[in-house]
Amino acid sequence: MKQTYFVTGALGCIGAWVVKQLLERGDVPVVFDLGGDPRRIRDLLGEAGLAKVRFVQGDITELESVKRAVLEAKPHALVHLAGLQVPFCKADPALGARVNVLGTIHVFEAALAAGLARVVYASSAAVLGPSEDDEHPADEHAPCEPVTHYGVYKRANEGTARIYWLDKKLSSVGLRPLTVYGVGRDQGLTSGPTSAMKAAVLGRPFHIGFSGPTDFHYVADTAAAFLACADRGPAGAHVFNLHGDTLDVAEFVRAIEAELPAARGTLTHGGPRIPIPPRLDGSAIDEAVPGLVHTSVASGVRETLARLRVLAERGALDARDLA
Ligand SMILES: NC(=O)c1ccc[n+]([C@@H]2O[C@H](COP(=O)([O-])OP(=O)(O)OC[C@H]3O[C@@H](n4cnc5c(N)ncnc54)[C@H](O)[C@@H]3O)[C@@H](O)[C@H]2O)c1
Repeated sequence: MKQTYFVTGALGCIGAWVVKQLLERGDVPVVFDLGGDPRRIRDLLGEAGLAKVRFVQGDITELESVKRAVLEAKPHALVHLAGLQVPFCKADPALGARVNVLGTIHVFEAALAAGLARVVYASSAAVLGPSEDDEHPADEHAPCEPVTHYGVYKRANEGTARIYWLDKKLSSVGLRPLTVYGVGRDQGLTSGPTSAMKAAVLGRPFHIGFSGPTDFHYVADTAAAFLACADRGPAGAHVFNLHGDTLDVAEFVRAIEAELPAARGTLTHGGPRIPIPPRLDGSAIDEAVPGLVHTSVASGVRETLARLRVLAERGALDARDLA
C-alpha cells in the first residue's frame, strides 16, 4: 500500500534523493520547503518525476504552517531535513537558530499533533567538534565540543529529541552524516568534492577548500538511511553516526581522476582540515537498523560523474557553485 512521507527541506540535496527513492518504491512524498526552486529534484527525476511530487511551500520557523501542513498531509512518517548549513549559520547565527533549533521543535510539535510515532531528523557529525585522531573512529559516546554555531544547534536538537521522548514518549532518530557527496550537493562546508566532480565534467579547474581525511557518504546511501529509520527505527530517542568511506581529500581527487583522466592536474585542494573527526563509527546504526547500503567512493564517484555528464549534455548542469 502507498504511504505518504512528509519530508521537510526536500528541495535540498539529501531531500531530493529521499524524494527519488520514495517515488521509485511507489510511496508519496510531500515536500515542505521554503524555497521554490525544485532543480535538485528535477535533476534526479526529470519533469515527469517532478510532476508526481506534492509541494507545500512553507517556513519551518512558523509553527502553525508546519502543523497545518503535517495535519493536512496525514503522513505515515516524517523526515526532517530542513536546515541552514555551517556557512549560513555563521553568517546569521540568529536566523540559524530559528531555522535549525526552533524549526526542529516545530517539527516535533507537529508530529505530536498528528499522532506520529516517530520523527527522523538530520543531526550532523559537526556536533562532535575537531579531532586529530585519524585512527580511532568516533562513536556516539565521543565528547561533543562543536566549534560552529551549526554544531551547537544540531547538538541542541539531539537534546530536544531526548526531551520529547522523556516528556511525551515521541520516538526519534537523529542521523549524523559527515561529508555527503553526489548530485545535488552544491552548498555547505563540505560541498567542494562534489563541485570538483562537476568542474571535471565541464572541463574546468576547481579548488576544494579543505584538506585531510574525512568520512565520505554517498548521498543515495544517506537518503536510504533516513528512510530506513523512518520505516523501522527503534523506539526511544536515538542518535546515530553515519560511516561511509574515510579517505583523504587527495585520494578522493584521485578517484575522480581515475574515472575522468582528462581532469588530471585541474583539481586542487588545500586549507585547514574540517573541525569534525575524520572517521565515524557506524556500528550502532548497523546494529539497530540492519541492512543499510554502503556504496564505495569508487562507485559513488563513478555514478555521480555519469549523472553529471548526462545533465551537462542536456545543458542542464547548474554550475553556480563553481563561481
Ligand atoms: N550535506 C551534508 O553533508 C550534511 C551533513 C550533515 C548534516 N546535514 C544536514 O542534513 C540536512 C539536509 O542537508 P542537505 O545537504 O540536503 O541541505 P541543503 O542545504 O541542500 O537543503 C536544505 C533545505 O532546507 C530548506 N530550508 C532552509 N530554511 C528553511 C526554512 N526556514 N523552512 C523550510 N525549509 C527551509 C532549504 O530551502 C533547502 O532546500 C540539513 O539539516 C543538514 O544540516 C547535511
